Amino acid sequence: MPVQQVDTWSDPDLRSQPGVTTVRAPSVPWEMGAGDLFFTTNPGLEDIVVAEFAESCQAAGLPAGVAVTAPFGLAGHVLVRHPEAQSVVLPLAMRLRSIHHLLRPVAGFGVPAGDELAAIRARLLSEPLPDLVGAPSFRVTTRRVGRHDFTSMDVERVAGAALVEHYGRPVNLERPAVHVRVDLFGGFCLLSLQVTDRALSQRHHRIYQSRAALKATVAYALLRLAGLRPDAEGAVLDPCCGSGTLLLEAAHLSGRLRVHGCDIHADAVAGARANLEAAGCLAQCQVRQLDLRCLDQVFAAGSFRAVVANPPYGVKVGQTLHFPSFYRALLEQSWRVLEPDGRLVVMVWRRGVFVRAVNHFGRFRLQHLRAVEAGGLFPHVFVLHRPATEPLASDLAGT
Ligand SMILES: C[S@@+](CC[C@H](N)C(=O)[O-])C[C@H]1O[C@@H](n2cnc3c(N)ncnc32)[C@H](O)[C@@H]1O
Repeated sequence: MPVQQVDTWSDPDLRSQPGVTTVRAPSVPWEMGAGDLFFTTNPGLEDIVVAEFAESCQAAGLPAGVAVTAPFGLAGHVLVRHPEAQSVVLPLAMRLRSIHHLLRPVAGFGVPAGDELAAIRARLLSEPLPDLVGAPSFRVTTRRVGRHDFTSMDVERVAGAALVEHYGRPVNLERPAVHVRVDLFGGFCLLSLQVTDRALSQRHHRIYQSRAALKATVAYALLRLAGLRPDAEGAVLDPCCGSGTLLLEAAHLSGRLRVHGCDIHADAVAGARANLEAAGCLAQCQVRQLDLRCLDQVFAAGSFRAVVANPPYGVKVGQTLHFPSFYRALLEQSWRVLEPDGRLVVMVWRRGVFVRAVNHFGRFRLQHLRAVEAGGLFPHVFVLHRPATEPLASDLAGT
């Protein structure tokens, strides 16, 4: 059965952008089935989860099942119904690099405004949760989105008390045998069982931490958007690598990729090296201290099939940057070191400034643009193509 992408989240702001893929985002009627799985990811990456899951199924000789992105209008969620038993699908799903958590959905229900906690309690007192019968312990975790006059901890407390009352099992916050999720999105409550102990995106043991570090899910997605897949060959560059998340993901994606990273700051370079060494992939990577304005002084023309960058946003770090000239340098330098037909993928916060820089430079072609949630912000990801042939001077006139 081919994968069906029924629905996806999209930023309404992007609909007016030329060259942007957007899709409807209606809510989908869906009767929860025993074999359903919920994946959580960063809003904006739902389609990447679907594609990665479909590829994993295909590689394992399994059908892909049916995937619904943003079910019930929930950004950052993907619901999968698969014909195979969960014992077959779960090990595959646990290896996905684009997801945070894996949940087994139990029920989705509306809760009336002003009476949410009472409605959640009533539902938990009546909803059958066979996993809790005789379970050594459990805990409840809540993610809450929207305006409510109570906190996530209030939901956890009320739901936990209802489940103790119903099943008489003890709570263990540290190592629960059953992890119940009671997530609240406005007036919609999603009841599920969490399969993952901790977020799969926390897969890198970091010696060096950076406040600006990407989530591994986002780094994986940027590499995919650059066209890199498992077993990809050639060379990839992150010209402002920080703690090295993109380098770690690239090295894990394919042992055949030659991975290069640069950063202007010596502590970031040392930190990225330490993180790569801890992950056992330093031998596959070269990290050097370099200002990205000078890439062409170190790397020969056409060295990379992809340049993937997460430059400073100017929110937490980099406030002193002059963004128009910084972006211009990033575009010019990437153009020089990219091979013909290569891709530049950049995640930026200052979209307008970057668009003006792309238009002014004029040589890249915009292939794709999307917004992705990262650290509570919605930066934009640009996928730019370096055409194999130089544009004619007449094509550039007026840019
Ligand atoms: C948003 S952080 C990158 C975070 C990284 N993706 C990670 O996961 O840790 C941006 C990085 O750009 C670096 N940077 C700023 N200006 C630069 C320049 N001119 N050349 C190279 N790197 C630069 C900063 O030192 C910082 O580490």
